[in-house]
Amino acid sequence: MSVTPIGGRPQGESRPDKAGQKVTTATLRQQKQRHEPITCLTAYDYSTARVVEEAGVGMILVGDSLAQTMLGYENTLSVTVDEMLHHVRAVRRGVKNALLLADMPFGSYQADTSDAIRNAARFVKEAGAEVVKIEGGEKRADLIRRIIDAEIPVAGHIGLTPQSVNVMGGYKVQGKDLGAIEQLMRDAVALDRAGVACLYLEGIPREVAAMITAEVNTPTIGIGAGPECDGQVLVLHDILNLTFGQPAKFVRRFGDAAALITHAVQAFCAQVVSRQYPSDAESYHLPKETQAALETVLERKRAMRR
Ligand code: KIV
Repeated sequence: MSVTPIGGRPQGESRPDKAGQKVTTATLRQQKQRHEPITCLTAYDYSTARVVEEAGVGMILVGDSLAQTMLGYENTLSVTVDEMLHHVRAVRRGVKNALLLADMPFGSYQADTSDAIRNAARFVKEAGAEVVKIEGGEKRADLIRRIIDAEIPVAGHIGLTPQSVNVMGGYKVQGKDLGAIEQLMRDAVALDRAGVACLYLEGIPREVAAMITAEVNTPTIGIGAGPECDGQVLVLHDILNLTFGQPAKFVRRFGDAAALITHAVQAFCAQVVSRQYPSDAESYHLPKETQAALETVLERKRAMRR
């Protein structure tokens, strides 16, 4: 019997017409209530978004991690709204059923509320995002309420928030002492009350994530936050070995796309150099009559030269 992942195809099925149901923010809540784990991965372009969705993931996040994975920036701070929108549009074209979320980049929501609402609306209007994600806890609750009032669903993101790297003094696990745990609980409850569609928990102890998950109504999506979260997210490039350097403790490599690409590129170069590629079967040919006419012309030219 095949299992249909929400938003995806039955496992083992490759027919696009058998695609599953549309995932909405309501679906996430139902999944939390039914204790059905929620799956989320990042995607940043059309083709990978298609593959990721068709493989059965429920949520696709165009994360500002694209600053590093796609654009080669040092951290997420430099990426702009326009750069993000460019990628969200491409992903939108590849996604039908998965819930599509987009990160609001650093500087696009911190200055003032109207600016933040205008930027959030751009993600919906110009790029087709269904939910926008904003980093920060309690202090963002009023802003998040205002964006939701403007009919734009918002995902929260607390714990290790990469846009605060300079304030945190590096990418450090958060919530390790009692004061920090209490603050994280206040953050989670404030965002839950503000009405977030889901809450990303990044880089916090498993025990703290479990307490938050039990406390809030909104589904929690963990990354480096242990198995008790309602769902899990990872960066696609991390699970495919397409990031460079030492991966974080929580990253599990589920495939090796770097090895696959290296192998294919080396084979291509070797076969071009040895003239094995392209073959006759991989070449276009003239129609028979044109070929015959061409030979006649060439023969006439040769005869004139003699
Ligand atoms: O930018 C991103 O990819 C993220 C996830 C890691 C949660 O925010």
